[in-house]
Amino acid sequence: MQDTLAPLYEYCEKHTTLPDPLLHQVERATHLQTLAPRMLSGHLQGSLLSIISKMVSPQHILEIGTFTGYSAIALAQGLSAHGKLTTIEYNPEHAAIAERFFHQSAYAAQIDLLVGDAKSILADMNESFDLVFIDADKEAYAQYFDLIIDKCTTGAIIIVDNVLWSGKVIHAIKDKKTQIIHAFNQKIAADPRVENVILPIRDGITLIRKR
Ligand SMILES: C[S@@+](CC[C@H](N)C(=O)[O-])C[C@H]1O[C@@H](n2cnc3c(N)ncnc32)[C@H](O)[C@@H]1O
Repeated sequence: MQDTLAPLYEYCEKHTTLPDPLLHQVERATHLQTLAPRMLSGHLQGSLLSIISKMVSPQHILEIGTFTGYSAIALAQGLSAHGKLTTIEYNPEHAAIAERFFHQSAYAAQIDLLVGDAKSILADMNESFDLVFIDADKEAYAQYFDLIIDKCTTGAIIIVDNVLWSGKVIHAIKDKKTQIIHAFNQKIAADPRVENVILPIRDGITLIRKR
């Protein structure tokens, strides 16, 4: 899907506000220092996250899947004056890169990076969130949603990445991972506690609003 739409994405990026120079540095370091730089949100998606966060002006953002910190810094740009962002990363090497950039950002004092498995960290967390970004292991998406929905305030926005899984969700025969993502999409669309819209941006992003 991304390949056939590549020229349109190039056009969109070219006509989208340039990201903060620090995000350029995060992107560069990610390409030089990690094995899967494709996981990074990047310019277009990062700008979308930043604008959504600025619209919500959140008190407490939760991010599941920090990687090298690109999306966390983009989301932090919308934090309210005394707001904070909690981001969870399983891989200590990714977390170390992210931590370095958080320190260099304007949001150093507002970002809390937790290193470990998000499932166990979230199960023990007693805080509320008004903006959530789910972008870690796809197999656990439904579990993450179940773990956070009661911690979300009314009107909270939950953003979920990779919900179209390279377009494979519409294939007649779906591999295991695609089946899991398809089941997640069905679960969200059927949940009366929320309303949602799937945006065919990049690998597919769902915006979910808690009623
Ligand atoms: C797609 S990347 C996140 C990209 C990042 N949000 C961005 O947009 O730049 C997914 C990250 O989730 C992490 N991850 C995978 N399973 C996890 C888990 N169970 N708990 C916490 N983090 C996990 C991976 O190590 C990886 O760094």
